[in-house]
Amino acid sequence: MKFFIDTANLDQIREAQELGVLDGVTTNPSLMAKEGITGRNNILKHYVDICNIVDGDVSAEVIATTFDEMVKEGEELAELHDQIVVKIPMIKDGVKALKYFSDKGIKTNCTLVFSAGQALLAAKAGATYVSPFIGRLDDISTDGLNLIAEIRHIYDNYAFETQILAASIRHTMHVIDCAKVGADVMTSGLSSITGLLKHPLTDSGLEKFLADYNKGN
Ligand code: E4P
Repeated sequence: MKFFIDTANLDQIREAQELGVLDGVTTNPSLMAKEGITGRNNILKHYVDICNIVDGDVSAEVIATTFDEMVKEGEELAELHDQIVVKIPMIKDGVKALKYFSDKGIKTNCTLVFSAGQALLAAKAGATYVSPFIGRLDDISTDGLNLIAEIRHIYDNYAFETQILAASIRHTMHVIDCAKVGADVMTSGLSSITGLLKHPLTDSGLEKFLADYNKGN
């Protein structure tokens, strides 16, 4: 499973990259705003800064909601850097834009996906990634993980190449459960990645090993 980090915070992206397990980055307008990145030029520059830190795909979301505007904005984003993936919302014009970019060989990430039907449409339109938001489903008492499993089943039935990018990951158990049901990628905040490191038996075991070593030295 690929690990993406879901943030626009450059320090956190660097930290995940230095850990050696990072395969890409996802951003969205809210994550940009959280870092105080506003204004078109600053946002575009920030995408390039992110691409210069990581080796993998970097999702950059369009603000446009009509086909023509999405194409214009998406092409501008794609030209910024060859790691850019154009992130497009699951709306009617978005499906058309996914198909347009797919035909042109430009990578896409279909975002705001909350149902298997939406994921099926994204795959039919040739999306590179589909992003089901599991945390937001859990928030409304709907089983987010079950959606990942449903999409996995459907995509495997027809050998769709669209990669399932489990998004809106809130904690380490989401990461592990997504790996169990076969998500291709998960995107989360840094704490859900570094949280995988932790186990009290590792800490106490290491403490004992070091103490025993020091007895003889
Ligand atoms: C995905 O690409 C989104 O940026 C993200 O995972 C949304 O997560 P949230 O529900 O925590 O805002």
